[in-house]
Amino acid sequence: WAFLAEDAEAILRLKRERNAVILAHNYQTPEIFHCVADIVGDSLALAREATRVDADVIVLAGVYFMAETAKILNPGKTVLIPDAGAGCSLADSITAQDVRLMRQAYPGLPVIAYVNTSAAVKAEVDVCCTSGNAARVVKSFGVPKVIMLPDQYLAKNVAAETGVEIISWAGQCEVHELFTAADVRELRAANPGVTVLVHPECPPEVVAEADFAGSTAAMADYVGTKRPSRVVLLTECSMSDNIAVQYPDLDFVRPCNLCPHMKKITLANIRKALEENQHEVVVAPDVAERARGSVERMLVL
Ligand code: 13P
Ligand code: SF4
Repeated sequence: WAFLAEDAEAILRLKRERNAVILAHNYQTPEIFHCVADIVGDSLALAREATRVDADVIVLAGVYFMAETAKILNPGKTVLIPDAGAGCSLADSITAQDVRLMRQAYPGLPVIAYVNTSAAVKAEVDVCCTSGNAARVVKSFGVPKVIMLPDQYLAKNVAAETGVEIISWAGQCEVHELFTAADVRELRAANPGVTVLVHPECPPEVVAEADFAGSTAAMADYVGTKRPSRVVLLTECSMSDNIAVQYPDLDFVRPCNLCPHMKKITLANIRKALEENQHEVVVAPDVAERARGSVERMLVL
């Protein structure tokens, strides 16, 4: 604990000295989420807040595509990610060339990219989406069929919700793909009355068994507004840890899966990032400009 406190104090001082802010995703550990972050949220909130930052330096406590999105939206600012190897199985599943080939295979269909993609992929599509607004983005085209890449499960879940046919890609989140419908049934049997919240990156049969499916922010809102006395969040482990601090009277049942990429970010490497200005996120200007269009069209929606 002494080491954690020392790092946290150093980070608070470095933020002042460097006029820096820390944007942290909901899957960051509680000491990052509660002690040093200036803004916390889901991918949509982090993208939105990145457009409002009035600081010289942004440290993204999250994974690489989130830092890239912050850089795309703030080309003139220094954007740092404490571990440049914090990737994502979804972002790694598809390239810009894959998107170009998809367009050729399905000419005329709108192409939507989940924000969990590289800047190069975002540069090739019509608009981005997050789990918090995917249904709205799909419906905004007003057509019966779209392409939405690369998460096959999110695509199936959004297709079921909107009635729009969605062509997707074979990407999966390595965290959420592990949950099964049998897990949900066993949880209900072992924990009578439990409310089951799931992320829409889970397979459709898991979503079908749940009480609610939504982005990490939507899950947090559900807990805050409905106050289920006993609840399980089938998602990354830090989600429950962070919310449980705010609602000590609620019973959080804890099967969860760790995201090894999110867990690469620590207080120690956030401190080092601010001390040594590493690892600076760079996006080629022409790619950034086209990717920014896709992200901004999403934010307008
Ligand atoms: P949201 O926070 O947008 O729901 O995304 C979850 C996720 O897996 C991010 O990597
Ligand atoms: Fe990617 Fe899944 Fe980790 Fe989110 S939880 S960063 S989608 S691998």
